[in-house]
Amino acid sequence: MVRKAIIPAAGYGTRSLPITRVIPKEMFPIHHKPSIQYVVEEAVSAGIEQILMIVSRSKNMIIDYFDESLELEMYLQKANKLHLLSKVKRPDVQILYTRQPFAGGLGQAIRLGQHFIGNDPFAVLLPDDLVIGEGIKELIDVYQEEHGSVIGLKEVEEEQLKNYGVIDGDPIRNDLFSIKGVVEKPQENPPSRHAIIGRYVFTPEIMAALEKVQPDRGGEIQLTAGIQELLAAQPCYGKVISGQRFDVASEKDYIDLQLQMYRQHADHQGK
Ligand code: G1P
Repeated sequence: MVRKAIIPAAGYGTRSLPITRVIPKEMFPIHHKPSIQYVVEEAVSAGIEQILMIVSRSKNMIIDYFDESLELEMYLQKANKLHLLSKVKRPDVQILYTRQPFAGGLGQAIRLGQHFIGNDPFAVLLPDDLVIGEGIKELIDVYQEEHGSVIGLKEVEEEQLKNYGVIDGDPIRNDLFSIKGVVEKPQENPPSRHAIIGRYVFTPEIMAALEKVQPDRGGEIQLTAGIQELLAAQPCYGKVISGQRFDVASEKDYIDLQLQMYRQHADHQGK
């Protein structure tokens, strides 16, 4: 069973500057909730019991947010506003934190979870990718059938592929691939139309694979380079996820997401 997850949230959020100087992009609100809460809820509803968040010096707001708010709860009780209590309850999951001292890439952030993971399989959820509908749960289901690492995929337009890790793979069925190789942000000749989105399930062997990876030209340890190393040791799978994926740092996606959540809520209230 997959019970542990790592959520790397240490990036600078450069695409959303200047606001990210003080507000982490993971805290951008979507219908009164920070975007990272949707990601935590996605993990919890897939059966995750323990989360390690990788944060950086400027992300204390995330730690504060997931803390208990006992004073506020007491106030709501005294003020007879009990209907608001469910809004301030933290998600039912243990959250641990560690700091990435400098931006050394996604692969390096994952390596900080080595002791947390031990010998267990684990999920990775990137909090700038929001999935509405089925997400990490579908990858966990494939892991349980295949017992290998599973990478979340989406088919994207050709001209967008240069912004993603892209897989080369053989189809097993319509939405499932046996991965032959991965390329990080191919500037030309992408091996397929299948881009990696921020959802993964890994066997613990990814840690040893990441140890072998040399930093790229920008000094970062790429997770895709770790996946390429892992492929030499064991099979990995790619699963096209059926949920809708939004990139919180893209202004268009952020607005679309806001609208969608607003409409869902309005329909729910019959407004
Ligand atoms: C990271 C990964 C990339 C993946 C993407 C998904 O890139 O390196 O392989 O496709 O997340 O969002 P980033 O967007 O952090 O540059």
